[in-house]
Amino acid sequence: MDCGTFTYEAAECLVRWYRKNKRDLPWRKTHDAYAVWISEIMLQQTRVEAVIDKYTAFMQELPDIAALASVEDDRLMKLWEGLGYYSRARNLKKCAAVIMARHHGRIPHNYEELLALPGIGSYTAGAISAIAFGIPAPAVDGNVMRVLSRLLGSADDVKEPETKKNFENILREFYRDHPCSPAFVRNLTQGFMDLGASVCLPNGRAKCTQCPWQERCAACKNNLTDVLPVRGKAPERRLEERTLLIIRDGDSFLLRKRPERGLLAGLYEFPGIPGFCTKEEAADAVSAMGYEPLQIHVLPESRHLFTHLEWHMHAYEIRVSGIHEENDLLITKRELLNRAIPSAFRTYLEYYSLRQ
Ligand code: ADE
Repeated sequence: MDCGTFTYEAAECLVRWYRKNKRDLPWRKTHDAYAVWISEIMLQQTRVEAVIDKYTAFMQELPDIAALASVEDDRLMKLWEGLGYYSRARNLKKCAAVIMARHHGRIPHNYEELLALPGIGSYTAGAISAIAFGIPAPAVDGNVMRVLSRLLGSADDVKEPETKKNFENILREFYRDHPCSPAFVRNLTQGFMDLGASVCLPNGRAKCTQCPWQERCAACKNNLTDVLPVRGKAPERRLEERTLLIIRDGDSFLLRKRPERGLLAGLYEFPGIPGFCTKEEAADAVSAMGYEPLQIHVLPESRHLFTHLEWHMHAYEIRVSGIHEENDLLITKRELLNRAIPSAFRTYLEYYSLRQ
């Protein structure tokens, strides 16, 4: 990495800016490590606005590690509904069980021990260390890399793991050379996050005139804000066509649990078959499931993007009578609200006015 260093003056300037401009967010009302941990996991790949209400409900129902370690899986999925990347929630529960078993139910006060826990990577270990405990540790995620790439004028590819390690080392060296109080560490860490979220924005939206680093930022001074950070090409999404069978008997719907491994593991879905089917083929598939199709009609198409995959969905509503529930779940419209149904099926839940 051939770029400038991160100076104490730059850090002080960001901390001053953060004190004046920090966002009022529910997880900032406390330094409690459990609250910091839950919020940081929820905020990965998810917008702050989408997290706020979910975080509040989660903390109300599962206020501590013991509650999280013993929550039922279906309830946990319901609390996570809409946030996506459901393995994050499963890992939270696993990690809570490890903390109960090996750390007397208390989150360790130490970066290395945090990093050794399941589901906690270098960013989360750094964020918990810095925000909850004021320990000088780097918390570098995509937003922080964007901010640092621009400030320091780094043209390294932020998709490369080496680049993240380099940025983490720059912050480690900074802390080694400049002992900081816990309050300073907390403010600096969250200052990076807020600058990345509200000023140093991606995709041509950077608000450089509002930036406390305007005069010291290499990208701003050299007109490189729209060039940095450098990102290698993302792998293309694989396209998968799918036909959903929305099987109903009166006001009841048939759901099926997805396999415990893989995409949307263990969540409930409307049964689906690969490819686009005709009405006749869909009716045949329902007959093969042991039901007699009485009426069938076409529902709107929809799409859903996962990280590496895109579903194009055709759907049919198929009315049957006498659903039996051996491997499937029969559920009323009202009960559907209490189940974690992945956002991939949102179009159909909304179609039946099941979601606000
Ligand atoms: N993004 C990631 N972590 C965050 C935090 N603690 N506050 C606001 N935005 C964030």
